[in-house]
Amino acid sequence: MARTSHTARRTQHERAAAGGLKRLPEFGHIVTEHHRDPRSRWNSRFAQRGVSAFQDAPATWLVEHRSLLLGSGGGRALDVACGNGRNAGYLAGLGYEVDAVDISDVAIEALRAAAIDRGLKVYPRRMDLEQERLPVASYNVIVQINYLQRDLFESLAHALKPGGLLLLETFTRADGEELGNRVPPRFLLEHQELLSAFPDLEVLDHVEALAERSGRRRGVAGLIARRPAGL
Ligand SMILES: C[S@@+](CC[C@H](N)C(=O)[O-])C[C@H]1O[C@@H](n2cnc3c(N)ncnc32)[C@H](O)[C@@H]1O
Repeated sequence: MARTSHTARRTQHERAAAGGLKRLPEFGHIVTEHHRDPRSRWNSRFAQRGVSAFQDAPATWLVEHRSLLLGSGGGRALDVACGNGRNAGYLAGLGYEVDAVDISDVAIEALRAAAIDRGLKVYPRRMDLEQERLPVASYNVIVQINYLQRDLFESLAHALKPGGLLLLETFTRADGEELGNRVPPRFLLEHQELLSAFPDLEVLDHVEALAERSGRRRGVAGLIARRPAGL
């Protein structure tokens, strides 16, 4: 007797859900996760998995540069696309007063409550980095981890105070091509891209590698750059 395979018996809705697609009953059409606007996408991710505010280990790239961060004398820091605040909490622990911005209301509300609870000098604010501007010459340190928005590069450089430091790390094309991790290509750095991304800044360190990140092997590139004191 011929058997109908499970795949063949799946309804359209099941196939859509299995492939990362969602049917929106109110609109009656199918959209991918990545076609939803980033605010609702990230809000639903954080609502589903919960926000472990300030609890996860900070980014390795920051920990590896702890003495540079300590040596730069504290002051104001900005955590760009801060998520659950793991990096903002780390900077606060090193003595910085940290503005932590993210598009997700869910993440920001959780961080606000936790910062008050723990007496952390972290000031979370909801901000859509694709729509709003960063303040100019305001930060001693800016960190941006696992977030890529190329048209923000110039504003990041301008938001640093003279002498201020930018620490950035995110995923590269090798993450998909060599390791098969699934990140949409527009969120992946090209080979050596960071080296020419900040022409007004002085590059202090740059690494591109396959490395362990949060318990997984990832393709990453990291940059440390400084705004020259005279600029
Ligand atoms: C992969 S998570 C990284 C979080 C954090 N930087 C870390 O290393 O744990 C990406 C973050 O970018 C935020 N995000 C996405 N689009 C954004 C936008 N347009 N403006 C501000 N934040 C955004 C998301 O809400 C999410 O928290």
